[in-house]
Amino acid sequence: MRDPDVVRVALAGLRAPRKTLPPSLFYDAEGCRLFYRITELPEYYLTRTERALLATIGPAVADLVGPDAVLAEYGASTEDKAAFLLATQGAFQAYIPIDVAAAELAQLRARMAQSHPAITVAPRVADFMYPIVLPPIPADAPVLGFFPGSTIGNLEPEAAIAFLSRARTTLGAGARFLLGADLRKSPLELLPAYDDAAGVTAAFNRNLLVRLNREAEATFDPMAFRHEARWNDDESRIEMHLVSLHDQTVAIAGETLHFAEGETIHTENSYKHTQDRLLTLARQAGWTLERQWTAPGQRFGHFLLNQR
Ligand code: AVI
Repeated sequence: MRDPDVVRVALAGLRAPRKTLPPSLFYDAEGCRLFYRITELPEYYLTRTERALLATIGPAVADLVGPDAVLAEYGASTEDKAAFLLATQGAFQAYIPIDVAAAELAQLRARMAQSHPAITVAPRVADFMYPIVLPPIPADAPVLGFFPGSTIGNLEPEAAIAFLSRARTTLGAGARFLLGADLRKSPLELLPAYDDAAGVTAAFNRNLLVRLNREAEATFDPMAFRHEARWNDDESRIEMHLVSLHDQTVAIAGETLHFAEGETIHTENSYKHTQDRLLTLARQAGWTLERQWTAPGQRFGHFLLNQR
């Protein structure tokens, strides 16, 4: 069925001289399933590395922030990462998972009622790229914002600053923020993570076109586009593209678009900031570094920020 929002954002990106599609379109049901498979791929070190780091630092973070703190997680369709923080008895009294996926949040709440009965769970169905209103928080409770998964890297630097600054306003004066981000490293390690041997990332990328066929009345042949991951050293980012294999025309919601052979649709940026760069972005949003932890070889970082 045609979705006017999908048609609008798709046409805005595809009419531009350099064609783009926003990465937010990746996450339909099939895209979420493929992304979950990506997180389990041998080449995609991010999720494994972050989980191992969180397992190590969880008790230290809980001790610094608690007792009886409130944890607000941005982009939380599951509690699996928050669980490393919530495991410390008495550190957190409440958990506010924030996500656009209402059904996943309902399941999360039901699971948490069984696994963490002492913690109040108050999900918020919201897009964290817009202002959010949190449920009432006890006046004296310490507050910790949590943004794991290196999703910060999918935001353009200005959007990352705007997000971090909005989070500061939402969470209130005195709140802290735990930011998990992948770090700059050799493209020899980065490129396979975004172009795996089994072709799961390629399927994830092409699924955008499948989605447009369904939701924007488009006529893409997804196999007429090749998945490409590129390292952009100047911008310090991995870029994902869909490269047209030949000259072709495609209809989208009644409009005809031309794709030349070799022309690309730029579908995602995944910035791999240095620690310094990340902390500069955080500072520009009004946050100060309190503590940082990195995985062996500086492969992934968690940054505890405050407002002092
Ligand atoms: C969600 N995000 C942090 C992923 C990343 O690594 O940038 C999305 C992704 N794109 C391709 N593979 C994974």
